[in-house]
Amino acid sequence: MQSRKVLQMIPEADALDDEKAHLAAEAARDFPTDAEGQYPLPPSTLSAQVYADPAGFEREMQRIFYRSWFPACPSADLPSPRDYVVWDKLRQSIVIARQDDGSLAAWHNACRHRGARVVRESGSCKAGRFACPWHGFQYDLSGLVRFTPLRGSFDAARLQGLRALPVRVREWSGFVWICFSDDVPELDRYLGTLWDELSFYGLERFKVLYRFQLKLTANWKVVVDAFNETWHVPFTHASTLGHMVQWRDARLKIDSPHSWMTIPVKGFTDRVGLQVDHRLSHICHYLAFPNTFFSCFPTHLQTWNIWPTSLCETEFTAWGMVGPAPAGVTEEQWQKQNDRDWKHFCAVSTEDARVLNEWGSVSRSLGAGTYMFNTAEGRLTAFHEEIARRTRTGEQD
Ligand code: FES
Ligand SMILES: [Fe+2]
Repeated sequence: MQSRKVLQMIPEADALDDEKAHLAAEAARDFPTDAEGQYPLPPSTLSAQVYADPAGFEREMQRIFYRSWFPACPSADLPSPRDYVVWDKLRQSIVIARQDDGSLAAWHNACRHRGARVVRESGSCKAGRFACPWHGFQYDLSGLVRFTPLRGSFDAARLQGLRALPVRVREWSGFVWICFSDDVPELDRYLGTLWDELSFYGLERFKVLYRFQLKLTANWKVVVDAFNETWHVPFTHASTLGHMVQWRDARLKIDSPHSWMTIPVKGFTDRVGLQVDHRLSHICHYLAFPNTFFSCFPTHLQTWNIWPTSLCETEFTAWGMVGPAPAGVTEEQWQKQNDRDWKHFCAVSTEDARVLNEWGSVSRSLGAGTYMFNTAEGRLTAFHEEIARRTRTGEQD
């Protein structure tokens, strides 16, 4: 039963309503709707400087990105023992390697001798040893130094048990998650409510079928902001999402540092019924602080990350994950549906990217002073309060 509804989620172009009439009707509804009446936070303001301060950016790297969990890659990227991924983001290079017992180890890809990059790119290491290209120190899959040329010429005590510095790693929900700090709670406690919310979908059964990447010329926080509210939909996504989601009926949940919202889908949520679990009837859109989004539908989802590369440059990387074909849907139909959904997601993201790059082009404007968030933007208010709390000056890194 679910399957037919899923297949109808994105109508063919010729089946679209008159989108303008629909959007006008949506915008004309009395304020507040039931959902809007429950928005959790009052309006707020934010200095434009928050997006343009180099010192603040450094504090964000140290106190937020180096103290959070995020997915580095799908588990499927390392299916077999001795497979490894070299992950280069956030000014770090990390080797994530599948051990012979099937577990994972992650370690900094910087040689303990004089700091060379030990492993150049992802692959499979049949020999189980990585040799540093500079002076030949050899590391095993766990990052332990196993061979040192001219061993007798070193201070023996320094070589004792020497290993590349480890990184915390955890496999969950089809992804390899990493964290650079030992002071952060375990992933389940870190994610809190989101752990339970996402567990519902059984993402281990999903396959990663699609990938997409964009480089943006805007500060990373405004990119996160862009995905945390729905009311830009009728303007930025008039012809792609406007007919599809009931953007005025999104319900917001703040569970700091994370947040999420449930968005009714036109022609789907009303037929499934509101008494059904929100994860079976709505698009559920989660932000795992600071930079990971999951946009979940019962049968498939998109997940994406926002990676700062510099104060004004950001990388957006997305994966499309698909569950088993629903009952009554052939593999061929399912594939076609998923291809279409993914194409749609990429089109929507590209619309966001255009606005964000244009935002970047005026972000140093002398006319940019204080920005304002309305009650529909409560997730942005909560996100920036969290950033401010963690990066407050005067506190230790
Ligand atoms: S820097 Fe790696 S062996 Fe010298
Ligand atoms: Fe958008």
